Amino acid sequence: MEAKVPFQSVIAIDGPSGAGKGSVSRAIARALGCRYVDTGAMYRAVTWLAVQKGLSLDDEAALSALAGRVRLTLEETTVTVEGHDVTSAIRTREIDAAAARVARMPAVRAVLVARQRAYAADGRIVMEGRDIGTTVFPEADVKVYLDASPGERAARRASDPARESSISDASLSDVASALEARDRSDRTRQISPLAMADDAVLVDTTGVPLERVVERVLAIVRERLAAR
Ligand code: DC
Repeated sequence: MEAKVPFQSVIAIDGPSGAGKGSVSRAIARALGCRYVDTGAMYRAVTWLAVQKGLSLDDEAALSALAGRVRLTLEETTVTVEGHDVTSAIRTREIDAAAARVARMPAVRAVLVARQRAYAADGRIVMEGRDIGTTVFPEADVKVYLDASPGERAARRASDPARESSISDASLSDVASALEARDRSDRTRQISPLAMADDAVLVDTTGVPLERVVERVLAIVRERLAAR
C-alpha cells in the first residue's frame, strides 16, 4: 500500500550531480502524488538569464535582484524563464560551470531559498537539490541523500538525454573532471555547502537500477512517515 502523504509534507532529496536525484525524485513525486521541484534548475535558470542579459557573473547584487524578480515555471519536465522554454538551454556545459559560481553567492541563495520555501505552502512536495535537508527544510518529513561512485556519476551525466551535448562532443574524462570541479565548488562553498543532514538516509545508487532505487526511497518515505 502506498504511503499517505500529509498535505504540507516535504520530501528532501539531496546529493551530488549524477547521483540520480532527478529521475528518482520525479518517479517518487509521481508515485506519491506530490509536486516535484528541481532547485538546481532554479540556479541554472537565473544563471541562464544573467548570461542572456550580459550581466557580470561577479555582480552579486544584480544577480540576486534578478533571482527575486525572474518569472520562472518549474513543471515536471519543463522549465520556463520569462515565458521561454529553457529546459535544454540550462543544461549546457557553459551553464554547468556558471551556475556553480552563481550558487556560491549568499544573496542569490537567500532569495532562491525563500522562493523554494514558498513552494511548500501549496502542498506536498518532493524537492531535490544540495541543501534541502540541511538549510531549506531542516524540518523536512523525509530526507534522503543519494550518492554514487564518481565514475558512475560521470557516466550518467555524459549520457543524460536531457542535456544538449552528449558524450560525442565531450569525452568521459572531460565530463568527469568538470563534474569533480563542480562538486568541489558545491562542497566547499561558505554557505549551505553540499552535505548530508544528520537525520538523512544515505542511499548509494552505484550499480543499482533506477526502479530499485525508487523502491528503496519509497520504502524510506513509508517508514519515516509512519514514525511521525
Ligand atoms: O543539480 P544541478 O546540477 O542542476 O544544480 C546546478 C547548480 O546549482 C550546481 O552547481 C549545484 C547548485 N545547487 C545548489 O547549490 N543548491 C541547490 N539546492 C541545488 C543546486
